[in-house]
Amino acid sequence: MKADYEEKIPNNVELKEDRRLQRALESWQPNFLNWWESMGPALPTEDVYLRTAVNVGRDGWAHFDHVAMKDYRWGIFLADREKDRTIGFGQHRGEPAWQKVPGEYRADLQRLIVIQGDTEPASVEQQRNLGAIAPSLYDLRNLFQVNVEEGRHLWAMVYLLQAYFGREGREEAEELLHRNSGSEDAPRILGAFNEETPDWLSFYMFTYFTDRDGKYQLGTLKESAFDPLSRTCEFMLKEEAHHMMVGTTGVDRVVERTAQVMVENDTDDVGGLGVVPLDVIQKYLNFHYSVSLDLFGGDTSTNVANYYTAGLKGRWMEGRRKDDHKLTDESIHVDALVDGDIGTTEVAALVGLNTDLRREYIADCQGGVKRWNRILEQAGLPRRLALPHVAFNRKVGAFAGIEAAPDGRRLTADEWAAERGKWLPTETDKTYVRSLMQPVHERGKIAAWIAPPKQGINGKPFDYDYVHLA
Ligand SMILES: [Fe+2]
Ligand SMILES: [Fe+2]
Repeated sequence: MKADYEEKIPNNVELKEDRRLQRALESWQPNFLNWWESMGPALPTEDVYLRTAVNVGRDGWAHFDHVAMKDYRWGIFLADREKDRTIGFGQHRGEPAWQKVPGEYRADLQRLIVIQGDTEPASVEQQRNLGAIAPSLYDLRNLFQVNVEEGRHLWAMVYLLQAYFGREGREEAEELLHRNSGSEDAPRILGAFNEETPDWLSFYMFTYFTDRDGKYQLGTLKESAFDPLSRTCEFMLKEEAHHMMVGTTGVDRVVERTAQVMVENDTDDVGGLGVVPLDVIQKYLNFHYSVSLDLFGGDTSTNVANYYTAGLKGRWMEGRRKDDHKLTDESIHVDALVDGDIGTTEVAALVGLNTDLRREYIADCQGGVKRWNRILEQAGLPRRLALPHVAFNRKVGAFAGIEAAPDGRRLTADEWAAERGKWLPTETDKTYVRSLMQPVHERGKIAAWIAPPKQGINGKPFDYDYVHLA
């Protein structure tokens, strides 16, 4: 279906056929724009070289141009409807996918959409001040691209709430703009989305590890029996791929530059040489990875078992799993404290679905570490980065109540307090990283702590005028 760009709200859902919904969304739109002005990117710009979704099909869905960010065409785009789509898992497996919300699942579906929706504007808020300390115009452009797309993801969830959940849905849509990241009175729902993103190393780690959690959550919602949710998430995943790229290549470039300076000076001790030492990169990695693991929830969950059986939320790559897609007789080993020690315990597969998803995510994260280590190897350096143990720095799940080192060693509370500064960024580390963040807003130039990208955006060179500052 072709996107309608004539309308106030670009969409491919034939919004003009539904006056009530159109009016509801048009009255939410100014609130969204107010939020964007007050909580979105703080750095004033004339225009930014952005891609805008114009169509959801395989070709030409993205259109690139210099646009003023406040005029960005946030819209509602669902992937094309799959004819005769049936439900792929749970007790309704094989039945036609739902085009409306079944009354019995209304509250649960609404909750799932609100939780996903809450993360989208949260990250924009967290990244609000990064523009002022961007290492290059290329990076600045990527930050803004991620920001406008997270804004669009909020639109996607608000559309579902307003179109399918009546008055309660409209109220939840308002709440999504009232809660704010880090707020005392009305914080965002999930912990990682109330953390600060104070520097660009944090930003790359966030887009690598925390946006990747988003990818996995969207992947499970894409399987949903509720077809509009499924189609929304499918399209969001295409945009999410760019956010992953920003994180992956961002960390690549930090590691690459650090490795260069280590080799040039024949030392590990590069803290005074204007780049981020490897052990500080490892600490940032430890932090972002462990808080992102928490986003997957408890190791076991009867709620999630119920969501699966009801058909609301599937597994990652549900279609490729070789089982009965009901899991009533299966089991899984999940993380657990066994006699007070780090171990695993066997539970019904249905209640272990959070663990299943977290493990898919962990396997994916290994990919990043592998490529960053290849950069170190190619530089001839013996040092390597690693993902910390799953019990390290956890606030949710079986290991929330204990302390463990990155290698999985159990620690007493005192040992943890004495040693945590070796594994998590200290104030000194953060201050040092922050000191490197001198803005480079000049075309073709880049900060000294990061290597330039291998490629520009949409075939443009690195020294392209990606952003015009105001
Ligand atoms: Fe998103
Ligand atoms: Fe994202």
